[in-house]
Amino acid sequence: MTRRRTAVLISGRGSNMAALLTAARDPAYPAEIALVLANRADAGGLALAAAAGVPTAVVESRPFRGDRAAHEAAVQAVLEAHDIGLLCLAGYMRLLTPFLVGRWAGRMLNIHPSLLPAFPGLDTHARALAAGVKLHGCTVHLVTEEMDAGPILAQAAVPVLPGDDAASLGARVLAQEHVIYPMALALVAGRAATPPAADVALSNPLPTPPSLPKPQSSSE
Ligand code: GAR
Repeated sequence: MTRRRTAVLISGRGSNMAALLTAARDPAYPAEIALVLANRADAGGLALAAAAGVPTAVVESRPFRGDRAAHEAAVQAVLEAHDIGLLCLAGYMRLLTPFLVGRWAGRMLNIHPSLLPAFPGLDTHARALAAGVKLHGCTVHLVTEEMDAGPILAQAAVPVLPGDDAASLGARVLAQEHVIYPMALALVAGRAATPPAADVALSNPLPTPPSLPKPQSSSE
């Protein structure tokens, strides 16, 4: 089996990247993590990747001063130098231009901390709480030009519990991100060039609902 050479793009701590690295330790996993690339030299995930023996690269976005296409061209050059075939965005906090999106169409995945299409963008946990939803979760999708809107590959739902704040809800969601991202990458990597259908959906058990009063019979 040829394992697909995959790069993980990060901007921060890299816990999803670490989940992908763990999954890819299994020789039967259809992707190998061949590169971890960050747009910030202080991304915590870089040290994790290096400790795991994975090649790392930094293409700082700041010096490009808003010239996103030029930054992406520099990223693309590094990806080509490492012979990368699949991309996973994992907390990569950059809006992408058609330059990268077009080159990686069907081969670039993203993880987002909400049940898309609900709550695209930032601050998803606080917004879910403010909206009063009872279910929240995370989504892995293919990246298209419209932000957080590409075909959905996998989702996991978690309950919103009484007393939740953005941190507690976010932690519950993050644990599920670490489950579905490796599943979704395996789905894409295992199917070569064919874009996968939306055929993975995880739903977590909900807490037992409060008991309802018995309906009164009409004869009483
Ligand atoms: C994750 O929760 C991921 O879903 C989110 O950033 C976090 C990165 O954490 N991504 C986005 O919000 C993208 N819009 P990590 O660095 O520990 O994987």
